[in-house]
Amino acid sequence: MRFGHFDDEHREYVITQPDTPLPWINYLGSEDYFGLISNTAGGYSFYRDARLRRLTRYRYNNVPFDNGGRYIYVRDNASGAFWSPSWQPTRTALDTYECRHGMGYTTISSSKDGIATESRYFVPIGENLEIWQFTVTNQRETEADLSIFSLIEFCLWDANDDATNYQRNFNIGQVEIEDEVIYHKTEYRERRDHVAYFACSEPLAGYDTQREDFLGAYRGWDDPAAVADGVSRNSEALGWAPIGSHHVKLTLAPGESRRIVFVLGYHENPKDAKFDPPGSQRVNKITVKPVIDRYLRPEEVETAFAELAAYWDGILGVYQVQSPDPDTDRMVNVWNAYQCMVTFNMSRSASFYESGIGRGLGFRDSNQDLLGFVHQVPERARRRTLDLAATQLETGGAYHQYQPLTKRGNDAVGGGFNDDPAWLILGVAAYIKETGDWSILDEPVTYDSKPGSEQPLYEHLQRSVTYTLDRLGPHGLPLIGRADWNDCLNLNIFSAEPGESFQVAPLAKDGTVAESVFIAGLFCLAARELADIAEHRGLADEVTRYLAEADKMEATVWEHGWDGAWFRRAYDAFRRPIGAASCNEGQIFIEPQGICIMAGLGLNDGRAVQTLDSVGERLATEHGILLQQPAFSDYQLRLGEISSYPPGFKENASVFCHTNPWIMIAEAIVGRGDLAYDYYKRINPSTREAISEVHRCEPYVYCQTIAGRDTPKHGEAKNSWLSGTAAWNYVAITQWILGIRPAYDGLEIAPVIPADWDGFTATRIFRGVTYTIEVERAGPGNAVALAVDGKPVAGNVVPLSPDGVDAATVSVTLGAG
Ligand code: GLC
Ligand code: GLC
Repeated sequence: MRFGHFDDEHREYVITQPDTPLPWINYLGSEDYFGLISNTAGGYSFYRDARLRRLTRYRYNNVPFDNGGRYIYVRDNASGAFWSPSWQPTRTALDTYECRHGMGYTTISSSKDGIATESRYFVPIGENLEIWQFTVTNQRETEADLSIFSLIEFCLWDANDDATNYQRNFNIGQVEIEDEVIYHKTEYRERRDHVAYFACSEPLAGYDTQREDFLGAYRGWDDPAAVADGVSRNSEALGWAPIGSHHVKLTLAPGESRRIVFVLGYHENPKDAKFDPPGSQRVNKITVKPVIDRYLRPEEVETAFAELAAYWDGILGVYQVQSPDPDTDRMVNVWNAYQCMVTFNMSRSASFYESGIGRGLGFRDSNQDLLGFVHQVPERARRRTLDLAATQLETGGAYHQYQPLTKRGNDAVGGGFNDDPAWLILGVAAYIKETGDWSILDEPVTYDSKPGSEQPLYEHLQRSVTYTLDRLGPHGLPLIGRADWNDCLNLNIFSAEPGESFQVAPLAKDGTVAESVFIAGLFCLAARELADIAEHRGLADEVTRYLAEADKMEATVWEHGWDGAWFRRAYDAFRRPIGAASCNEGQIFIEPQGICIMAGLGLNDGRAVQTLDSVGERLATEHGILLQQPAFSDYQLRLGEISSYPPGFKENASVFCHTNPWIMIAEAIVGRGDLAYDYYKRINPSTREAISEVHRCEPYVYCQTIAGRDTPKHGEAKNSWLSGTAAWNYVAITQWILGIRPAYDGLEIAPVIPADWDGFTATRIFRGVTYTIEVERAGPGNAVALAVDGKPVAGNVVPLSPDGVDAATVSVTLGAG
């Protein structure tokens, strides 16, 4: 069952009924000011940090779902009837309804009783504000006398405190109303130098800023007294709960339309110029007023919207494909690329599932996210990489998270997740391959953010390798530490304390025994990558050393990490294997299979194919590939959080989507295009659109998990948007299945596509050159013959174009000879 459809031409997903199984959300903003918005206008806004600078209030896990947002009420003053044109919060039946989620904007249109409205929400590029562009049309044959009310609820800035500290918070709320603009200035009198403002383009019939006056006692957003009466209270919030509501009265002739612009924004003043006049308690509005005036003008709004579209044209234009499969095209061209940018902006902070008050940016997460957006915003990727590396510890280890506001490692969580540092190598390699900017390796970067500790980034990569080599266990495999990529495989923790966080619980074991085969595979991949980098820098000794270390680790994996038909997962603190046929549960895990083959293991002796066949037999389901099988049926101290989840959920044997692309890539590496693509399609959200009643999450973005076959909920997705799934699926389809991937010295072309595809066409902007790539199948197999602008090129790498060339056509014949 579908709840909408894709509009590929406009890069929109069109939701045609408001009661989707879950709120289907979108993001506004691309730099500092952000918002989440659902298909019924639920959600909230923040400046930079979803916890510390939250503008509007949102109650997670509320009933009904998704209550609180950017609301407008329409009231028919003749009858007194009122409704929400975005359906929530009144949930009045609408005659028509449509929500279009686009690139950085959302438009909700509806009609009721001959009154049609359209609300377009977006954040202009370069501004710390959001625009609600509201159009109302009288489609009746008679005049319409209407009241329009806007509504937001202000958050008292720190979202965590806002939701917990009522003894203080009910006393501190303050607003100012000047020239009909509502300023939210809680805590401005003391240590804050920022305010929020909410403005309207039309003369007001009234306003409200105190929640209780607007709602009336014991009433909810679905039935505010001010709206029911058609009269604002002109209330001024003193403590309690500040809101912003404007009231505009309109009389519309038959067929007449009117446009109202609302602007909600964030403004900072210099600390020494907070008040006007100085010495008063009034907010200085000198610099904010021109901004407000500007964006209340309809022509400025149109210009800003056109700029936003151009911004996304630029970002998405870097990689475009026309293949035989619309699900592939729309994910590659629009939605998967868009989701990668959202993970860049949000990391794991704010979604319908991430409350925005939790963790910072994960070290491994950020390095992997980078793989999906580096081609879209290379300069920002460079900055992000250097910021991350600057938190690395002198040992080569890493804080598990870093705080984007302070740019420091997060002491509260600490480190000891032994896979973390290796991801830095993969992130940096991806950046150099994309940009050719070798200079990043020479950038001085601190350790642990300590001034004076700067060393070139290259040395940080070297220490990442050393970190693993310094921590080998009894079998010579890397020690796992707190956990590896699987945060929930906690082999040294043995937590028996209810509610204790597995991430920070004290280690019960000294950590010198439990080992990770996954980290071993990741090490091989990273060390071989670093050898490549060293070779380009002419460091022959280092090349030899890193290759030798990788080979040695590989030999150890074959000796102790190979189970006979697949790779084992780990050894526990008692030296017992995990992920082996001899285990009762958790006999086979997906992660080491993908990563070891990506690192090149088993490619020449059939063991890679054997491994993938085992994955296909034991882990693959119609809804994707399970993380492990059989699921753990009880909680086991020696395994930790992984066994805390009921079977089929999260790390305990769901389809943990992040890891599926590793298998797609591995299948591409062994040349099995049909299988790689089949796995790709199983979790592609667009493919799953038709079963939205099962999948339940948005059909335009990936989720972290899809429930596994050990639960009756098999096929149900959760935790959409903020997941490493976005980057890795993007890499799998664009670089390995379509096979267009940046290399140090050119653009490598190695498609491994389904046998029944005749070919495809792609455009890829790479190092300043726009390549038009035409792939045509001449026969079975994946052999590639290349011609650039008609001239045959040996091998499968399109060499860098000479300076001055900004376009080239690459003809690719597949399966020839
Ligand atoms: C979450 C974490 C990620 C981890 C994964 C598996 O997605 O953000 O760091 O690798 O779970 O546990
Ligand atoms: C929880 C999640 C896991 C995540 C971890 C870190 O354990 O299940 O996916 O990586 O938290 O926050």
